[in-house]
Amino acid sequence: MDTPLPQICDGIVIDQAAIQQRVAELGSQIAEEFAGQDLRLVTVLKGGLFFLADLCRACETQLAIDFLAVSQYSAGVGGMVRVTKDLSDDIAGASVVLVEDVVDTGLTVNYVYSLLKAHGPARLEVCTLLDKPARRIADVPIAYRGFTLPDRFVVGYGLDLAGRYRNLPCVASLKDEAVLA
Ligand code: IMP
Ligand code: MG
Repeated sequence: MDTPLPQICDGIVIDQAAIQQRVAELGSQIAEEFAGQDLRLVTVLKGGLFFLADLCRACETQLAIDFLAVSQYSAGVGGMVRVTKDLSDDIAGASVVLVEDVVDTGLTVNYVYSLLKAHGPARLEVCTLLDKPARRIADVPIAYRGFTLPDRFVVGYGLDLAGRYRNLPCVASLKDEAVLA
């Protein structure tokens, strides 16, 4: 069944079934590779929330989830970000998977990775649903990736345009006029 798309979208890039299948695969892989460890899935609000919610249910192992929030100081200024919500739990000695919706320039994940590293986890890996390597500036190691996409702005499954479209069950591209607006 086709997912109804908002007018502003021009097509589905990754459909709901493909996302669900890939998330299930990543969940099994993470559960296996972190078996017996103090596993924490940490995401950055708000975009990573949707992926984290599905991914943690696909991880058939004991784990805990936690969140942080950052805000961009201003668009395009060297990825300067500020923490607006810190982790609730101590991650020292834990095995942490940083769950991201998308890695684009890599500046955000690079910043958050360093921040988490400073808390002294025993292990720290990055898991991103989408990898858009074309505009990469900061080269962070990505241990788990859902899909690699070309340099195109997409929305859905957590990704937004001005706060909207996060709730789409698929990942969709936008009409050119929407991206430029
Ligand atoms: P970065 O460039 O890797 O630091 O990514 C910064 C942020 O830009 C991400 O966390 C997303 O919030 C946002 N972003 C990057 N690409 C897209 C996209 O295609 N759609 C929606 N948001 C995006
Ligand atoms: Mg965003």
